[in-house]
Amino acid sequence: MLLFGDLHEKPDYKTSPNFRDMQKLMNAALDEFRPEICVFLGDNFSTGLCAQDPEAFRQAIADLCEPATSRGIPVYAIMGNHEHDPGVDEAVVSTYDSLPLVNMRCDGVPGKADYYEVLYSSQGNEPKAVLWFLDSNNLCDDQSVSKYDWVHTDQIEWFEKTCNKLSADSGRVLPSYIFQHTPVPEEYRLLRKARLCEYPVSVRGHNKLSGERYVGAEGTVGYVGEGPCSPDFNNGQFESWKRAGGVKAAFFGHDHLNDFSGYVDGIFLAQHKTAGFRAYTDGCRSCVRYVELNESSPDEFTQVLKHFKEFGLRSESLGPVFRTITDRQSMALHFCARALGAAAALTAAAYTVYHFSAGGKTNGKK
Ligand SMILES: [Fe+2]
Ligand SMILES: [Fe+2]
Repeated sequence: MLLFGDLHEKPDYKTSPNFRDMQKLMNAALDEFRPEICVFLGDNFSTGLCAQDPEAFRQAIADLCEPATSRGIPVYAIMGNHEHDPGVDEAVVSTYDSLPLVNMRCDGVPGKADYYEVLYSSQGNEPKAVLWFLDSNNLCDDQSVSKYDWVHTDQIEWFEKTCNKLSADSGRVLPSYIFQHTPVPEEYRLLRKARLCEYPVSVRGHNKLSGERYVGAEGTVGYVGEGPCSPDFNNGQFESWKRAGGVKAAFFGHDHLNDFSGYVDGIFLAQHKTAGFRAYTDGCRSCVRYVELNESSPDEFTQVLKHFKEFGLRSESLGPVFRTITDRQSMALHFCARALGAAAALTAAAYTVYHFSAGGKTNGKK
């Protein structure tokens, strides 16, 4: 499976160097990994176009998926928060699903783009694993509760009920792999609060956690580039995965700068940074994740991240600095910028304190 996070493509894609860069990454990854399916993790393409010109939107989604579909590889797409923005969810889902080899459906709660795919053995018809594509909705109606919405209780109930039915039908609990745009709040368990000396390389928590700074916890691998933007309210979705059993991993989009991953209560949680060049990004660090399941042991998997520059690609949309440096140099620059910012803040604070204590000379205008 080849996973693409937050492509954020726009209606001007046909003339956009950013789109061409994204397609280069997609083509290179498809050629190298030769996956059996692709997953688009939401915030795929501006759905404003769907509201304004449905036929142009249909063509745009076909063009977005073309690198995969032209190779005969099916695309499974999920709704990100931005897919919900114009309020034409049904049209968005039916547009994706109308295209050959492109999938998006509402299998469960009406109007919610939750669906699943059972993977069968290559010989015979034995179910081996289940892929779940879940709709994490948009913003929360009550912004005092949470900035982002969550997977609702009726969606969770459908998930658990369907899990139980699939287990009953197959005579055992099937390993499950979940793909969802907005991460669950438990992603913060892959981080820990930063010590003072770690502030330059830490990130601020999201929204209600913005008073704390975080770094990766022990056992967490990958890059923490921003505080995970999960809901502020925990609706118990992660606990439902533990109740259902069989959930091996969950893959999230939404945070464009994070690619960290790790285990929480035995479930692998993986964050995807953007695979595009449109929305906020660290330039050449746009990347894909390849996940491989083995038919003989489908409750185990291997996975690898690969960044744009690591494919040996040259960007048309990035400026000379981000085009030239490597991914890891980009990270180092990122850290340096933060360190310089912290040093400047500390110097300014020291200067202010010194002048204040030396006679209230902090205001140069007096
Ligand atoms: Fe996004
Ligand atoms: Fe998002």
